[in-house]
Amino acid sequence: MRSIVLSIVCALAMTFAAQAQKFENLAMTPPMGWNSWNTFACDISEKTVKDMADLFVELGLDKCGYEYIVIDDGWMLRERDKDGNLVPDPAKFPNGMKAVADYVHSKGLKFGIYNCAGSQTCGGYPGGRGHEYQDARLYASYGIDYLKYDWCNTGKMYAPEAYKTMRDALYTAGRPVVFSLCEWGDNQPWEWGAEIGHLWRTTGDIYCCYDCEYVVNKGQPNQWSAWGVWKILRMRQDIRKYAGPGHWNDPDMLEVGNCMTAAEDRSHFALWALSAAPLILGNDLRKANKETIETIKNTEVIAIDQDKLGIQGYEYKMQDSVSIWVKPLENNEWAVGFVNTSLSEKEINFDFKQNVITDDLSGKSLDATKNEYVFRDLFRHENLKNTTKKPVVAKIPSHDILMLRLSVKTK
Ligand code: GLA
Repeated sequence: MRSIVLSIVCALAMTFAAQAQKFENLAMTPPMGWNSWNTFACDISEKTVKDMADLFVELGLDKCGYEYIVIDDGWMLRERDKDGNLVPDPAKFPNGMKAVADYVHSKGLKFGIYNCAGSQTCGGYPGGRGHEYQDARLYASYGIDYLKYDWCNTGKMYAPEAYKTMRDALYTAGRPVVFSLCEWGDNQPWEWGAEIGHLWRTTGDIYCCYDCEYVVNKGQPNQWSAWGVWKILRMRQDIRKYAGPGHWNDPDMLEVGNCMTAAEDRSHFALWALSAAPLILGNDLRKANKETIETIKNTEVIAIDQDKLGIQGYEYKMQDSVSIWVKPLENNEWAVGFVNTSLSEKEINFDFKQNVITDDLSGKSLDATKNEYVFRDLFRHENLKNTTKKPVVAKIPSHDILMLRLSVKTK
């Protein structure tokens, strides 16, 4: 009798495991939120998380679409407990993690956490390897809505299987979670990630600068580089076809408000929107100045990112150091960004009639020889008098962007 019961239990367990999948109908537009890493690294606490959740509401970021508050590496003790459970560091999270999740939820927001597929996180805390189902149950008991899963200390592990194991564990734990794969594009996650997670990092880490490379551990075997926004964005221009509702290319979290000029921050934010990238803030919202708030709350630019078609934009051409980015939108609208990548002001003169733009991926075309389009300037928040009947002529300061939304003129 006992063995019959056991066989039935085993059969049921196997059926359930075989049915495990990623949680569908999540991240149907690129996820928006805040993550602790870019500003705080491992120096995080309950107080910081609560302050950010408060500010999401006070600043009205929640109304702009920001939803997830995610804590990154450094939230736990260096060792698991005697039962193998992860333990939140009581010095940083004195009331445990459920209390933090409850607080974030009480603000109408969602809560995310971090771990790593390897034996240890990049910061040297216990990784998930071999504990996936146990950890997934723990996260579900906290009330976690988002998991960022890193790729340090993975030795010879096979990325698609490692991430699939965690995906199945999350699914089995039963609480819907946005699953963010953070393996830096090393194993082409765009080719296998859509079945497993909702977003995947496409590159190494971002570094707060416009166009630099920051070398870490220079000259040592573990040397790696972090990249400025302009570099990171152009690094993987060949994979836009893999992005779409529920599965996004992730060029890493935002550095808006962290070190760059207001013009660079505008370009950074708008380029992420043109790329249908996740908009995960990485600044200390308590210290954000007026220009930073204006940029991150620019709902007209956010709407480009969150367009329901979910088509990742691309660089159409570079013209005299001005990089022209385009993104097809719903209702035959288009977003177009003119980014001045040079160190001096540039005057652009761009004739849409001479530049019929056809996106091979979506089959959409911005054809000003057939339609007349009107322009809206998404940073000035005004409709322009000009239409595609005449060229766009504008002066763009160094590293700034002219960001337009084009709609077919109605009679
Ligand atoms: C890696 C990730 C970062 C961050 C750190 C934490 O470098 O790419 O985004 O999560 O680990 O240690």
